[in-house]
Amino acid sequence: MSVDLGRAKDLLRLLFVCEVKMTSRSERVGKSGQKGSETGVRKAKGSGIAKDPSLANRVALVCGASEGIGRATCLEFARLGASVVALSRSQLKLAALSDEMVAKGFAAPILLPVDLGETETLLKHIDKVLVAVKAIHVVVHNLGGPVPGPLATASQQDLERAFRAHVVSAQWLMQRLLPGMKSANYGRFIQVLSTSVKAPLPNLGVSNVIRAAMANWAKTLALEVGEFGITVNNVLPGYTRTQRLAALAKAVAQNKHLEVSEVEDLWRGQVPLKRFADPTETAEVIGFLASPMAAYIHGINLPVDGGRLVCL
Ligand SMILES: NC(=O)c1ccc[n+]([C@@H]2O[C@H](COP(=O)([O-])OP(=O)(O)OC[C@H]3O[C@@H](n4cnc5c(N)ncnc54)[C@H](OP(=O)(O)O)[C@@H]3O)[C@@H](O)[C@H]2O)c1
Repeated sequence: MSVDLGRAKDLLRLLFVCEVKMTSRSERVGKSGQKGSETGVRKAKGSGIAKDPSLANRVALVCGASEGIGRATCLEFARLGASVVALSRSQLKLAALSDEMVAKGFAAPILLPVDLGETETLLKHIDKVLVAVKAIHVVVHNLGGPVPGPLATASQQDLERAFRAHVVSAQWLMQRLLPGMKSANYGRFIQVLSTSVKAPLPNLGVSNVIRAAMANWAKTLALEVGEFGITVNNVLPGYTRTQRLAALAKAVAQNKHLEVSEVEDLWRGQVPLKRFADPTETAEVIGFLASPMAAYIHGINLPVDGGRLVCL
């Protein structure tokens, strides 16, 4: 039998690379969220601290859970082993999320159909959950962005409504959930904001104001709670393929008398990676920030934008 030695070496090299990749992946994340699987554990080099990337035994509240980045985050948290509490306004959409999670082999999430702008109802729901679980260890604060348009013509009502739904709800949730996080000596506040935190975006006047307020809320909180094992970080998405982006593209196309595909091409052209993010890519970053692996990342604004922001 004749053997092509060059080809055999290539094959061996390929097999070796595949094996290394698969080993490091399974070390990093045991499929702990799925039935009958184990949690991955890794020893952190240098620190001497064994860190478990999973969220087993953690309860994670995801706001804006029924669509887009929030929905993908629920699935990612379940994959990492967390018990998920899913909050958004639509009971119907939440039920669909629950069905999908169960179909994928994860536990059904606790569903909270509530508007973040209705703070009293929100707190009643949260208190009921706190009776069932001892603490909520991870909060992803996320919801649809404020109404678009120039700041010059924004009404007092627009600003007040956005401030209530975004900043006030984050504050109330934090105050309710902080004691449990302190007792557990583990907590994560993760806000899904926008790249406008670093560079205001045209025609998003109210949003730019509210995102900046949220960013400063988070940074201030970070100064106060770090000593309790609680981190506070913001994720700043760029163009991410969700129904929100599709709606925005449609509106811009109508305004500028363009095809939707032309608008999307223009947007893609602004991104060095030349593509939109998939919501799962943003969710994976949120999952990392929520995990013990990110214990020393605190008080930051992390763009997940394919490099679109031109500032450092
Ligand atoms: N996608 C992008 O390209 C992009 C870019 C930059 C920044 N962002 C920001 O990232 C965040 C998430 O974006 P996305 O694209 O994932 O949005 P999305 O697909 O529109 O999802 C928004 C989610 O928030 C929920 N929601 C909206 N208002 C709510 C309220 N008052 N109370 C409770 N839940 C509420 C919605 O569900 P219900 O209807 O069931 O309430 C939905 O589950 C937004 O703040 C967005 O502005 C997105």
